[in-house]
Amino acid sequence: MDFLDKLVPYVLTYGPNAEYLNFEDQIGDFDTEVILIEDENNADFCRLLNFSNQVAFGGPDDMGMPLWVMLDCGILPTAMIGFMLHVDDCPDDVLDLLEVDDDYDGYVPISEYCASVSVEPGCVSGFSLHCQIPGHGLATRTKAFALAVLGAKNQIGVTQFDNPAIRVHARFGPMEIMLHRPVIHTHSMESFVYRLRLPDHDTLIEMARGGVEFGVPERPQGIKWLFDPSDEGNHLRLADYLTSNRSVYIVSPGWRGTSDGCEIDMIVV
Ligand SMILES: CC(C)(COP(=O)(O)OP(=O)(O)OC[C@H]1O[C@@H](n2cnc3c(N)ncnc32)[C@H](O)[C@@H]1OP(=O)(O)O)[C@@H](O)C(=O)NCCC(=O)NCCS
Repeated sequence: MDFLDKLVPYVLTYGPNAEYLNFEDQIGDFDTEVILIEDENNADFCRLLNFSNQVAFGGPDDMGMPLWVMLDCGILPTAMIGFMLHVDDCPDDVLDLLEVDDDYDGYVPISEYCASVSVEPGCVSGFSLHCQIPGHGLATRTKAFALAVLGAKNQIGVTQFDNPAIRVHARFGPMEIMLHRPVIHTHSMESFVYRLRLPDHDTLIEMARGGVEFGVPERPQGIKWLFDPSDEGNHLRLADYLTSNRSVYIVSPGWRGTSDGCEIDMIVV
């Protein structure tokens, strides 16, 4: 796939943040491009990135990111990080999907991840992972790259039981389920909050390069459980474990589609 050789890593942020971010590591053939919000020449890229997020997350009436959230929560306190392709190298179906103008002559965002820094030192709250060329390991590489740039040691995040992105998150290590069906979320009943103890910086960089597929291969010792999100009894059992101080982890591969839904690999400790 020749586009894989043309991917350019990018970090979209606010100028004063740059000195706190680690983007010196070589991820592919190109140096990381730091795209600053202060430069009005970057407006088209920012708009394309927001549109890409809207497409990936169901638009403004679902989980698409409002522009003000992109600025207030994504760019000013942290960074939006991913891979982009020059428009000339970008597959036509992606250009169509993102409604890129014929006369556009810049970069097109292909993937993105964002994580806000938390009050807990070293911990980030990740969101907005998406990729417009699926099936090439790019979401995994994107998340790894972003976490390395942010110097993250732990990560919390929210996802849905039916989201195949669980396969991506579980590659970083056992996902400890912290909250089942958080009381507030756009899709509360389908969601859970998880926490990852992240691989070290060098491993994250190797994952970002696509050289290493799994950050933490070790699994916790405990009872294996194949969770079926369509079975309410399974949800009750999960809630029960969590309220009785048991730890429940999702372990790689983590998620697979079935003929009538999906199933999730869990370990109860
Ligand atoms: C989910 C998403 C991020 C995956 O992107 P991607 O670049 O294809 O992910 P990767 O190639 O790194 O995938 C890693 C694994 O997940 C699997 N996977 C990814 N999407 C899948 C899907 N829709 N169905 C089944 N498996 C899927 C891949 O096959 C791969 O599995 P493997 O272990 O067999 O190799 C992308 O489809 C997307 O943007 N979805 C919409 C936004 C979204 O829901 N984001 C997640 C927020 S938590």
